[in-house]
Amino acid sequence: MTRVVVIGDLMTDAVARAFYALARGSDTPASVTTYGGGSGANVASWLALEGTDTTLVGRRGSDITGRTREMELMGYGVDARMVMDPERPTGTCVVMITHRGDRTMLSDPGANAALQPEDLPREAFTPGAHLHVSGFTLINEGSRRAGRVALRMAREARMSISVDGGSHAPLERAGAENFLEWTNGASLLFANKEQAKVLTGREEAEAAAKVLCAWYPNVVLKLGDEGAMWAAKSRDDTVTLPAEPVEPSPGSIGAGDAFIAGFLPPWLDGKTPKDALAAGHQLAARALHQPGARPDL
Ligand SMILES: Nc1ncnc2c1ncn2[C@@H]1O[C@H](COP(=O)(O)OP(=O)(O)OP(=O)(O)O)[C@@H](O)[C@H]1O
Ligand SMILES: [Mg+2]
Repeated sequence: MTRVVVIGDLMTDAVARAFYALARGSDTPASVTTYGGGSGANVASWLALEGTDTTLVGRRGSDITGRTREMELMGYGVDARMVMDPERPTGTCVVMITHRGDRTMLSDPGANAALQPEDLPREAFTPGAHLHVSGFTLINEGSRRAGRVALRMAREARMSISVDGGSHAPLERAGAENFLEWTNGASLLFANKEQAKVLTGREEAEAAAKVLCAWYPNVVLKLGDEGAMWAAKSRDDTVTLPAEPVEPSPGSIGAGDAFIAGFLPPWLDGKTPKDALAAGHQLAARALHQPGARPDL
């Protein structure tokens, strides 16, 4: 089984779920719960719990939350290589879910945005292993150099590489062309519909996937309740697999991260795209059945 190295963010998610329409300038009753989060850490947690030998490289604050977050990772079996930042706090994301279920994130990357090339453990970059880089590491200016150096080290070690689009609004601010250039050499791109549109200007999934295949040998588009699509530079056809029928639990987040963690092991194991998509849907469905972005232990 392929060892996976994830470079990415470790966050605390404060998930606030409003019971009524937001009373602006006043109070709205809500449930507020904190969970371990961060796209990179979520992918690593699901991977490790499902049996993949997984290393997470990132940066956290030297605060009590950072310590808790790191211990959680160990609980999932992640080989956590977290560097402690002496000044910045562990990242926090306020996830606001309206009474209608719309989700807005207020994201403060904290220490994540200060990841340095020196933080990357050279011994983790070995032939035969796989590198997954969270889009946020490249989108945030402070951690971009570390993300790009990691991509270079992986290429030099002849590792396979996947990247994901992070989040569409910051991706748009960073610039589609920049992102495509930074991730040059990745063998697989994961993007959701909104990120694919930012990267290609195409609304329609198949058209977007085709454009992205000019940049990446393999492209996987996550299409929410419509499932997911795989496309490859070497093939004209695409493979689309519908999602599992799921009634998402209120407060569930991170289905996209779980999908990536489900997809990667069978993909790296040489299984068919359809099998890998199905495994992605399975973990995504598990994430949707529970609150927070991490697997229940
Ligand atoms: N309503 C749903 N019903 C069934 N499956 C879903 C639903 N929403 C998401 N999924 C599953 O989760 C996967 C990822 O969802 P999505 O396309 O929204 O990616 P994302 O935007 O990266 O994730 P997230 O919205 O969690 O940040 C889908 O491919 C599918 O497997
Ligand atoms: Mg989504």
